[in-house]
Amino acid sequence: MVEEVVESSPAKTERRRLAEGAASSVLTLSEVRAETEIRTPTGIAELDRLFGGGVVQGQVSLLAGPPGIGKSTLMLQAAASLAAPGRKILYVSGEESPLQVSSRAKRVAAAADSLYLLAETDLAKILRAMEDLKPWGVVLDSIQTLSHPDLASAPGSVGQVRECAMEIVRAAKASGAAAFVLGHVTKDGALAGPKVLEHLVDSVFYFDAERHELLRVLRAVKNRFGPTDETGIFEMTERGLRGVPNPSAFFMAESKDAGPRPGRAVSVTMEGSRPVLVEVQALAVPTRYPLPRRTATGVDLNRVLVLLAALEKHLKLRLDSRDVYVSLAGGLRVKDPALDLAVCLAVASSLREAPLPEDAVFLGEVSLLGGVGRVPRTENRLREAAKAGFSRALVGARAAKDISRIPGLEISGAAGLAEAAGLFLSNAKESLL
Ligand code: TYD
Ligand code: MG
Repeated sequence: MVEEVVESSPAKTERRRLAEGAASSVLTLSEVRAETEIRTPTGIAELDRLFGGGVVQGQVSLLAGPPGIGKSTLMLQAAASLAAPGRKILYVSGEESPLQVSSRAKRVAAAADSLYLLAETDLAKILRAMEDLKPWGVVLDSIQTLSHPDLASAPGSVGQVRECAMEIVRAAKASGAAAFVLGHVTKDGALAGPKVLEHLVDSVFYFDAERHELLRVLRAVKNRFGPTDETGIFEMTERGLRGVPNPSAFFMAESKDAGPRPGRAVSVTMEGSRPVLVEVQALAVPTRYPLPRRTATGVDLNRVLVLLAALEKHLKLRLDSRDVYVSLAGGLRVKDPALDLAVCLAVASSLREAPLPEDAVFLGEVSLLGGVGRVPRTENRLREAAKAGFSRALVGARAAKDISRIPGLEISGAAGLAEAAGLFLSNAKESLL
């Protein structure tokens, strides 16, 4: 149940009068002058990637995430960087005092003469400050603390959040100021506040932590002026958030030099448009339960169950007497069928106690019929593997035919699971089958 407070009447009549006013001029599409948007980089590479190169004037962006993820930190860093060449940026904090904001600014070395602070929650006062200052950009930290003077409901309630956001969008569009609206979501993903804003703003970014909170990933959910398949990857340090341009290193638990181990298979997943190397680990051990246990961390358990069934059928593996644990190193969570082949071979490798070659990567979607299919962006993924020093790759047979040569990488193709195991697990102890 959401309380909706009826607006006082003057505003309403004013609006009606507006509606009865002059008609808008209607244009055909070809009459509209093609204006290229001017993009202003925030100076934070991982953020600019999401903004499609930079922020557009009048763009309203929502940055949502659970408390403590680093929204204020990131936006303070971005605000300081945007303000550095003399642009006026107004940072409105409804949560923290100017002292707290400034001590955080010191910590992350964010200093700029044209960065203005305002500790205020009253929307009318904030809009007035915007009119007076005429900032290039404004950060509102956070939308849940703002209160619209015409509404009696508490800050953070759905009505307040929506009305405040509408006013901010109006102000941004009218003045051309770029607005960055921060919003909290609860840990379990309840999006009450930010969710009602998504259709009002131009861009929606979600800030999330990977399981071990090593890395923070910023994803674009909606982006009127930029890509939606991009991610920004950050690491929280003592001195603020730092971009992680090469995330592969983070998600590989052990370096290749650690030696071959049964149950380990490397694959390449995509984080937005970026290939990221991942290490699949599997453990297949004799079970003590009537019903063998299966757990999956980082990958979808249902998918793993399907793959185990495919392994039983097509590789004749006896998994009914084994507990099987599958996990991705480094706390990464992915839903990417390209990892199927690596999961299957990791399980087979653990069961047979035969390590896979540690200089190999495995890419392929495994079908119920045991076939190894192609995956999107195979070439990008393989290039990343070659760059990371891998020298062999196993992909689906058809993908292997299509792919052009990648220097330093020997690419083999397997039509099915049996062929894949034959190529890479031929040293297995057959007695364990
Ligand atoms: P914060 O940006 O306040 O999160 P949010 O605005 O999303 O609620 O900061 C998140 C956490 O990051 C906080 O617990 C303290 C920590 N932190 C660092 O580790 N290093 C830093 O330089 C800063 C500024 C914060
Ligand atoms: Mg904050």
